[in-house]
Amino acid sequence: MLARIGMERIVIIGAGQAGCQAVASLRAAGFAGAITLVGDEPFQPYQRPPLSKAYLMGAMERERLFLKPDAFYAEARCEMATGIAATAIDRAARTVALADGRKLVYDKLLLATGSRVRKIKVPGADLPGIFYLRGIADVDALRPALAAAKHLAVVGGGYIGLEVAAVARKLGHRVTVIETLDRVMARAVSKPMSDFYERVHREAGVEFAMNTAVEGFEGRGKLEAVRAGGVSVAADVALIGIGVIPNCELAQAAGLACNDGIQVDKHCATADAAIFAAGDCTRHHGRAGDLIRLESVQNAIDQAKHAALAMAGQPAPYSEVPWFWSDQYDLKLQIAGLAKPGDTLVQRGDPATRKFAVFHLREGRIAAVEAVNAAPEYLMGRKLIADAAAVAPERLADISIPMKSIV
Ligand code: FAD
Ligand code: NAI
Repeated sequence: MLARIGMERIVIIGAGQAGCQAVASLRAAGFAGAITLVGDEPFQPYQRPPLSKAYLMGAMERERLFLKPDAFYAEARCEMATGIAATAIDRAARTVALADGRKLVYDKLLLATGSRVRKIKVPGADLPGIFYLRGIADVDALRPALAAAKHLAVVGGGYIGLEVAAVARKLGHRVTVIETLDRVMARAVSKPMSDFYERVHREAGVEFAMNTAVEGFEGRGKLEAVRAGGVSVAADVALIGIGVIPNCELAQAAGLACNDGIQVDKHCATADAAIFAAGDCTRHHGRAGDLIRLESVQNAIDQAKHAALAMAGQPAPYSEVPWFWSDQYDLKLQIAGLAKPGDTLVQRGDPATRKFAVFHLREGRIAAVEAVNAAPEYLMGRKLIADAAAVAPERLADISIPMKSIV
């Protein structure tokens, strides 16, 4: 069996968080065949979270972004094809075409193509001074523009928008966040948490235009103002953070099932026994059984681990509790589990102390926890979600009862 596996060739498309993890996990699982990692960015795999935090702030060297040292890829006997896009998959021939005309033969293929920013489609959207944030190159372009800017307009009050707003305020810029919904980070957190974060940002000097759509960008030759909600907001730099789109086109063109994400099962396998997918680009059945697409480091790492196990012939189902984090000002937000409309919310601690948690209860059990500067609530909450433990809401809300004694 091992000898046969040793002959195999695995190609990974996407040299990001999931692609890199898959290389490490394949070797850890004893896969002895050939591995080729194809990535269209001109970098070895790197972590994205610091891009909107320490790296944007100028408090982190680029070298520290890279997930593994060069020696790792040599030791893992991983052939690197960076700075080059995969352009097509031929499932019958089991080949991947590259933009430079090469064809890579595979026995197993992992799609770890991630996601890309959603572009805003309004007049003036291509004016100089308008930026997006997904990769190293984006931050390297944004940083000098921000340094010279007076007024930053942030379009989208999600994770990117608020993390960048926090950095920009620390750097002393005037910041206006324009958000179409009535609360910030609505995709990720509950209303009490949204209200708390909007208040914190307002106290830090961020201005908000909520329930407001951007109608266009104005300026002669470069950005001078954002037209939103019928008024012009002066801005010499704009950062757009209005969500991402999963990179499924390769899979779709190859006839694999895609629906806002490449459809995979609990082993990260597609309907083609030779093709797997992991990370932002996938849609899978979550622990509650519903089809979900997660955009997080945890999901990229864990799906890559499970895809690698399956490709190495040791399948194990993926059912980890999802978790997320965000750093803004002095606040560490940690989230575990997935909330649903209709959950009962239980607050533990006082937001005024900047240390509290919101629990989501479903049928008497914790389904999700959002914790601010509250590691015990987050860690214990995550464990109780995994254990599906029943909890009494009044005990959860009582901060005199330590988290470890809640159940
Ligand atoms: P990616 O890391 O996006 O990697 C996919 C790679 O594949 C990319 O390099 C892409 O260019 C490449 N690719 C795509 N198509 C092709 C092709 N055809 N050929 C070759 N290469 C291709 N998550 C958290 O959990 N916590 C955080 O604090 C956090 N902060 C973030 C901050 C920023 C600024 C951003 C942008 C994201 C952040 N995220 C955070 C999200 C997290 O980084 C992603 O969920 C994670 O990177 C997904 O990993 P991935 O491997 O699926 O995709
Ligand atoms: P997001 O989905 O978190 O937030 C997008 C926000 O933009 C939402 O609030 C939405 O209502 C708003 N919006 C959409 N269209 C708009 C429009 N036309 N005008 C104004 N507002 C509009 O996506 P975001 O912040 O762009 O992040 C991109 C990706 O990066 C996501 O995958 C995210 O998970 C990831 N990321 C994660 C971080 C973390 O986990 N801490 C930090 C930074 C990014």
